[in-house]
Amino acid sequence: MASLNDSFILEMVNVSVRYGAVSALEDACLGVRKGEVVAVMGPNGAGKSTVLKGLMGLAPVVAGQVYWRGERLTSATHEIVKHGIAFVPQGRRLFTHLTIEENLEMGCPYLRDRPEVRRRMDSVMELFPVLHQKRRDLASQMSGGQQQMLALGRGLMANPELLLLDEPTLGLAPNIVKEVFQTVALISERLGTTIMVVEHNIKGVLDIVDRAYILDTGRIVFEGTPASVRETNILAEVFLGKVQRADPDEP
Ligand SMILES: Nc1ncnc2c1ncn2[C@@H]1O[C@H](COP(=O)(O)OP(=O)(O)OP(=O)(O)O)[C@@H](O)[C@H]1O
Ligand SMILES: [Mg+2]
Repeated sequence: MASLNDSFILEMVNVSVRYGAVSALEDACLGVRKGEVVAVMGPNGAGKSTVLKGLMGLAPVVAGQVYWRGERLTSATHEIVKHGIAFVPQGRRLFTHLTIEENLEMGCPYLRDRPEVRRRMDSVMELFPVLHQKRRDLASQMSGGQQQMLALGRGLMANPELLLLDEPTLGLAPNIVKEVFQTVALISERLGTTIMVVEHNIKGVLDIVDRAYILDTGRIVFEGTPASVRETNILAEVFLGKVQRADPDEP
């Protein structure tokens, strides 16, 4: 079990988030070390997206702190982005009426150095050849899997040290899911990007991460390596418990 505060580049300490009367996150402590790929897992409504939003200054944090390299992080998203943290939100949020190239450019809106924008775009397109082939097409003309690659590519345009991914495989066919996980692993391997990934696809994500956190109704109930997750019953408890509460007729 990793101890807190020992080498995390991004860390959440005793963070609680409340949306009005809804307590979405309760006293959460988690973090990611440089070069790690870390999963945040849990059933629908557990607070997974809230973790990423809390880190990005996009959720109403009512208690606790977020640290970047040991320094208190401001809650201003545009400042957080400047530290080299990129967020690829759930649902991709692409500009569907813009081209692939234009969408990629939106990944680094503050960068005025055109040759640098071009260089980054070339390197993203090298990683995702489909984006190169379709670079002048509208994002709306791409398949779901291709749109996810575009969302990942747009995140990489910020040249981030840390990439926060929210449900990158949501709504994709199984063979595409595999491709997305392979791509996430490739980004970590080839670019050395630190990654925190929220996933409901437990089996697939456990194959590519160094560590995982498991959330249940706003609380972190487990932290450990994929092997330690597999050795316990924690996933069955969290997911089946939730299903039984939601619908007693479901097995
Ligand atoms: N803007 C909001 N206003 C009110 N309640 C919210 C808001 N966003 C999230 N919630 C609530 O906070 C809790 C956690 O939501 P969150 O989106 O973090 O869950 P999640 O684990 O990402 O779920 P999913 O797997 O469905 O994406 C849920 O009960 C949700 O209904
Ligand atoms: Mg979510």
